[in-house]
Amino acid sequence: MDYNDILSDRVKTIKPSGIRKFFDLASQMEDVISLGVGEPDFTTPWAIREAAIYSIEKGRTFYTANQGLQELREEICRYYQRRFHVEYNPKDNCIVTVGGSEGIDIAIRAILNPGEEMIVLDPGYVAYTPGVELAGGIPVTINLRQEDEFKLTPELLKAAITPHTKALLINYPSNPTGGFMTKSDYEKIVPIIKESGIIVISDEIYAELSYEEEFCSIASFDEIKDQVIVVSGFSKAFAMTGWRLGYVLAHPVLTKAMNKIHQYIIMSAPSSAQYGAIEGLRHCYDEVLKMRDSYKARRNFLVKTFNDMGLETFKPQGAFYVFPCIRSTGLTSDEFCEKLLEDQKVACVPGTAFGPAGEGFIRVSYAYSLEELKIATEKIKIFVDKCRGNHD
Ligand SMILES: Cc1ncc(COP(=O)(O)O)c(C=O)c1O
Repeated sequence: MDYNDILSDRVKTIKPSGIRKFFDLASQMEDVISLGVGEPDFTTPWAIREAAIYSIEKGRTFYTANQGLQELREEICRYYQRRFHVEYNPKDNCIVTVGGSEGIDIAIRAILNPGEEMIVLDPGYVAYTPGVELAGGIPVTINLRQEDEFKLTPELLKAAITPHTKALLINYPSNPTGGFMTKSDYEKIVPIIKESGIIVISDEIYAELSYEEEFCSIASFDEIKDQVIVVSGFSKAFAMTGWRLGYVLAHPVLTKAMNKIHQYIIMSAPSSAQYGAIEGLRHCYDEVLKMRDSYKARRNFLVKTFNDMGLETFKPQGAFYVFPCIRSTGLTSDEFCEKLLEDQKVACVPGTAFGPAGEGFIRVSYAYSLEELKIATEKIKIFVDKCRGNHD
């Protein structure tokens, strides 16, 4: 059978994730130290695990409401108001999703018609461009620059908007760069968004991992709040990647549209995870802060260590990645990562896995212990010295 005739054109056009490709390589080798994975090294706080276990013991093993447990939606809206000062209503503005991943998908599909453009940032999280393509939309990329600290500037945004632009997808703090938008950064782009009437999908999955300034959501600007779909979740802040739980917050019309897709493709997010998350939002914030402090110490270590070895590294303000520039080694991002893996058995991700603008950079995750980071960076230093011909 010729499967080429069977697969849809859309699925054939999307490329496999550059991260996966690299990890398949690493998985065939022994004793590899990986700094590649974007997932917390902490186990989910015990109180969350216990609440989920209790829900199973009690036999709460059924589908929940499509939008998610009412109690959880109430906690999410309370939390969002408490932390980020934006008001949402559990009934009309909130859907509990299967991770931020589902949130991104239903947000894109609820608004895009085939042929419409969505602006995505490059370098950016790997799921965005394929998500737009699978919806039949046209991804239009904005190349972010290290000299702007990977922020979205008004000039870059203005230049990317066309009469076909439907939406803009942003992610701050950013995976992979660690870039961050402050309130005053947003103040510069909000008038452009207001005037153009485009929708903003704001992926805020790393909001709690903001190290210098308080996280500011673009939804906190009243004049464009109704144009914003917030996507977030429990994976990163609460160390709950395997539970597959997230949420979207948006205007009632957008929420209703996203819920139409959600109810057919998902029905409802996992019930035990939802019970666990209620407990997390009520009682585990101290643990979120402890994890954040630990990530911050690791960030400080990595930024200094990479700069000391001559790889210029921008100081990320959030998330758990650093994005060192490796141009001074004379290698491309792919060559650097492949040779580093061969030579020192350390796995990082080439910046190009996040878009062509990632050329010249590598992504290093610090969701690993300081001990592991120390060992790995010593090996990276040996490799970098070799690249520069300093063998002693
Ligand atoms: C920027 C960003 N958004 C969304 C996700 C998806 O997270 P999840 O589906 O686990 O909530 C990730 C995961 O790495 C991410 O880095």
